[in-house]
Formats: sequence, structure tokens, C-alpha cells
Amino acid sequence: MVIAGRRAEALDAAAVRLRERSGAAVHTVVCDVSRADSAEAAVSEVDSRYGPLGVLVLNAGGPPPGRILEIGDEQWLEAYELLLLGPLRMARMALPGMAARGFGRVVFVTSTAVRQPQPDLAASVVLRSAVTAAAKLLSREFAADGVTVNCLAPGATATERRRRILESRARATGRGHDELDAADVADIPAGRPGRPEEIGAAVAFLASTAASYINGTVLTVDGGRTETI
Ligand SMILES: NC(=O)c1ccc[n+]([C@@H]2O[C@H](COP(=O)([O-])OP(=O)(O)OC[C@H]3O[C@@H](n4cnc5c(N)ncnc54)[C@H](OP(=O)(O)O)[C@@H]3O)[C@@H](O)[C@H]2O)c1
Repeated sequence: MVIAGRRAEALDAAAVRLRERSGAAVHTVVCDVSRADSAEAAVSEVDSRYGPLGVLVLNAGGPPPGRILEIGDEQWLEAYELLLLGPLRMARMALPGMAARGFGRVVFVTSTAVRQPQPDLAASVVLRSAVTAAAKLLSREFAADGVTVNCLAPGATATERRRRILESRARATGRGHDELDAADVADIPAGRPGRPEEIGAAVAFLASTAASYINGTVLTVDGGRTETI
């Protein structure tokens, strides 16, 4: 397994934890998914050092919070490169090789915001809807070659990002972090935010041979929160 991100120290710490928990060999590659040169270098490093990509999980950060009329051009462009163009570019690099070998899995980690828009995460809502459309189109390209492309849409998950979003809401509303946390959780039928490993387990399922006939879909992992049928 190879994990990628921009900060080598954070990757090393995550690799240690993953090795302890799973016993698997975990390697790291420094990569900024929003930059073409960095993404190309990372894919070719993985290919030459560890072998061809069989499973590609696209899971980077999200854009800063903001309502639809608050986001400026610069922020839109940054969010576009991080959320849509960067992941699409990596999928484009990986998919033909997967098809040639007769097996492949691409999982885009998006957000339940594509099912139930959150007004203060406008860039995420807009661009992840586009990612969902791109994944649908990609899923049709190599389906007959054993390659699937799906989206995994997490709901509230207890990570650094959730903490930052609650802090931003606290600043915007003058309400306390704990109060906002409780209000957020009150909407979740499971009564708590997800744990990162619960998202990981769903990704692992989509990446497995057991999920070989699941293609072009969106799996929400949100404790039952999203109000769609
Ligand atoms: N947490 C939630 O409640 C929630 C809900 C719905 C959707 N999501 C989505 O799920 C995904 C993961 O969320 P999270 O909560 O784990 O976010 P997070 O706590 O902000 O972590 C983001 C991870 O992505 C890496 N990253 C950020 N920018 C990157 C870039 N340009 N290139 C490569 N790696 C990058 C970060 O490492 P470096 O900083 O070292 O690069 C970090 O490991 C995000 O897309 C998020 O929007 C999260």
C-alpha cells in the first residue's frame, strides 16, 4: 500500500499507525494532487518502485467553508484544481494500465453534500457534483475490463477537517464549538460522527473483488443522516 499527501512527517506518522494496525507494508510518496507535475511524478514513482496501480483512492482535503456568493474567483480555481482536475488527472493516468491488466478500482472520496447540499460548503457541493458526474462517465470507459469507478460520500467524520469546519462555524455565528458539535450530531441517526476507519472499511470494500459488479455509483457513509430515498 502507498499513501500520499503533501507533508512527509504526517505521512510517516500515518504509515507507522497503519503498519501497527494492519501488519501490511505501507510506503509513502509526497504528492500535491492539485499540481500536474507532482501527481505525474508520484504516479511514476509508485509504478517504478512498487508496481502498477491496481487501486487508486482519491482522498485529499476539502475547500475552506463559504456560501455560494462569498467564494472569489481565486478560491474557485484552487478548489477546482484540488477537488476536480487533480483527481480526474490521476484517474486518467491510472485507468488505461488497470484496463490492460484486467483489474482496477478507482474510488473518489467526495461528500454527502452531493446528495444534500450544505449552504456553507458551497465549493464542495458544486465541485463534488462535478466529480460525481466525471466518475460516472469514467465508470463506463473500462467496465468490460474489470475496472470499476465509484464515489464514496462521507457524512460528518471525526477528523481535523471536521474540527476546522466547526471552528469556522463558531467564528461565523458566535456560538460555542461544543454547542455546534452537539447540534451537528443531533441530526445524525447514529448519534455520533463517523470514525475515519469506518470510511476506510467502506473504501476497502469498494476496492475489493467482492465489489466487482458495483460500478458508477455513490456509496454514502453517514450514519443514516442524508435525507434522500
Ligand atoms: N471530515 C468530514 O466530516 C468530511 C465530510 C464529508 C466529506 N469529507 C471529505 O473527505 C475527504 C477527507 O476528509 P478529512 O476530514 O480526512 O480531511 P482532512 O482532515 O483535511 O485531511 C485531508 C488529508 O488530505 C491531504 N491533502 C490535503 N490537500 C492535499 C493535496 N493538495 N494533495 C495531496 N494530499 C492532500 C492532507 O495531508 P497534507 O496536508 O499533508 O497534504 C490530509 O492527509 C476530504 O475530501 C473531505 O472534504 C470529509
